[in-house]
Amino acid sequence: MQNEHTGRPAAIVTGATYGIGAATALALARAGFDLALCDLDPRTLEATEALARGAGARVARIALDLRSQASIVSAVAAAAAFGHLEVLVNNAGVPLPGPALEATRADWSTVMSVNLEGTFFMTQAMGRHLTAARRPGAIVSIASTHGLVGHAGQALYGISKAGIAQMTRMLAIEWAAHGIRVNAVAPGKIDTVSPARQASMADPARRAGMLARIPLGRFGTVEEVAALVCYLAGTGASYATGQVIALDGGVTAQ
Ligand SMILES: NC(=O)c1ccc[n+]([C@@H]2O[C@H](COP(=O)([O-])OP(=O)(O)OC[C@H]3O[C@@H](n4cnc5c(N)ncnc54)[C@H](O)[C@@H]3O)[C@@H](O)[C@H]2O)c1
Repeated sequence: MQNEHTGRPAAIVTGATYGIGAATALALARAGFDLALCDLDPRTLEATEALARGAGARVARIALDLRSQASIVSAVAAAAAFGHLEVLVNNAGVPLPGPALEATRADWSTVMSVNLEGTFFMTQAMGRHLTAARRPGAIVSIASTHGLVGHAGQALYGISKAGIAQMTRMLAIEWAAHGIRVNAVAPGKIDTVSPARQASMADPARRAGMLARIPLGRFGTVEEVAALVCYLAGTGASYATGQVIALDGGVTAQ
């Protein structure tokens, strides 16, 4: 079951440069995984790699563009070189806020090609790897509360994340017989300062508006998301599959 060189299983984390992806990589390293860190430009993964190595993991930095099937296939093949690839964390995603009335076909493609198509075909590539190797595994995708409940100004993003939630349930059933567990975490507002989210999270008025809607009265941390991902990826969650768990300070319980 384990990597012959290190005795550690391996995990892929997509979009591991910033925020939730970087924190998840570190949590998995501490939990005993070697790591295939993937992002558009593997050079941006340097800091995450250093943290994961510091926690004892072997690390490979791998270029991945979720819009390209060839890139997905070669990234999973590169990760499989670790010898015991067991976990995939589908973290990479793009936000695209804006009124639905103004959305274009190009906007739709921008969001769906990464968040939904990319996540599906990445998951399929991992599923193919695990079933061909006849090994069990765990897949954890990062959805969003915007894919669970209605919200103004996030239609395309929310639709893409709702697709991830349903993909989680469909594949969990289809792949249960292979011992592949498929789950998702749906974060609410998480305090991240990545380039893609800086504009909304740095604006004090918007932050205050967001905070007012959170029962626990604060944003979530990337470490809190990483802890749940790590739990779902690990043997402690061996009876959990097909679940989409909101991590949102109580927002969707209202
Ligand atoms: N931050 C939040 O509040 C929040 C809330 C709910 C859900 N999420 C979801 O969590 C995940 C991570 O969020 P974050 O804020 O840490 O993200 P982020 O914007 O900091 O990072 C996303 C990563 O995805 C990568 N990426 C973008 N396009 C890609 C492509 N075509 N191929 C491969 N990689 C690509 C980016 O380079 C980046 O490293 C995303 O899926 C996001 O939708 C975040």
